[in-house]
Amino acid sequence: MPLVNTTEMFKKAYEGGYAVGAFNVNNMEIIQGITQAASKLRAPLILQVSSGARKYANHTYLVKLVEAAVEETGLPIALHLDHGDTFELCKSCIDGGFTSVMIDGSHHDYEDNVALTKQVVDYAHQFNVTVEGELGQLAGIEDDVNVSEEDASFTNPDQVYDFVTRTGVDSLAIAIGTSHGAYKFKPGQKPQLRFDILEEVGRRLPGFPIVLHGASSVIPEFVEMVNQYGGKMPDAIGIPEEMLRKAASMAVCKINIDSDLRLAMTGAIRKHFALHPEHFDPRQYLGDGRAAIEGMVEHKITKVLGCEGKA
Ligand code: G3H
Ligand code: 13P
Ligand code: ZN
Repeated sequence: MPLVNTTEMFKKAYEGGYAVGAFNVNNMEIIQGITQAASKLRAPLILQVSSGARKYANHTYLVKLVEAAVEETGLPIALHLDHGDTFELCKSCIDGGFTSVMIDGSHHDYEDNVALTKQVVDYAHQFNVTVEGELGQLAGIEDDVNVSEEDASFTNPDQVYDFVTRTGVDSLAIAIGTSHGAYKFKPGQKPQLRFDILEEVGRRLPGFPIVLHGASSVIPEFVEMVNQYGGKMPDAIGIPEEMLRKAASMAVCKINIDSDLRLAMTGAIRKHFALHPEHFDPRQYLGDGRAAIEGMVEHKITKVLGCEGKA
């Protein structure tokens, strides 16, 4: 099976009340750890590449690695651009073999977001590439954009129907209180999401797939591992798993996870060096990082996303 776009996987996810995991990839070990877990559990998969990942690892290397994952596993895998911020970046990914792109116009005013998103959709659909748009702004850091809590804004349900019909997007990312990175809530703050907004968006857009960014749970086991073996992470709080499960049973069909991958890999590698200070073969510590990612993704698929056996 070649790389797929997200149409079929989102249709099945919406009807089945589960979500597909969209995992950020930056190198071979991350791709292998994720796809080994998904392969074992026969789960559909979205592997997503940020512009930072593309700068780090090179477009062609990432495409070929993801194509290798498809060949090895036979899974339905979409290769997706995460947070594309210009038409040119989206076009370059579409021309270069991606099957799905996000155009994140959420930093623009509404009309400019509509115009930019529509421009990307009109181009992408000629090549059967699906497009994710965004309305509302998450707090946190992604590439060079740092959105402070004061500037973050929840999605306005009154805008979603107009946005989706005028742009023709295939899925929509919304802001309901998640945020990017490992520090999603202040220490002592109770994690909360605006499920009322998600519910209202679902009512306004029946059957339409919604995307949740900033959805890492910041798994305490890995934060503790990082800190136990020499790291210095302040209190980090993520999205509780039961909230993600609830979102997946509603209109959310795609759940974005990057920080949990970073933490699993870093924790395992820190532990490896602490236990084996004499090691200097990268295969030894990167192998542990890869295994930690595999275990973490297995947990996400079975306990959070609910997409086991849906490939
Ligand atoms: O949303 C942001 C993702 O975590 C990607 O992060 O832009 O540092 O690669 P990055
Ligand atoms: P996290 O930082 O919560 O993993 O979010 C990742 C993300 O939304 C990528 O687009
Ligand atoms: Zn994101």
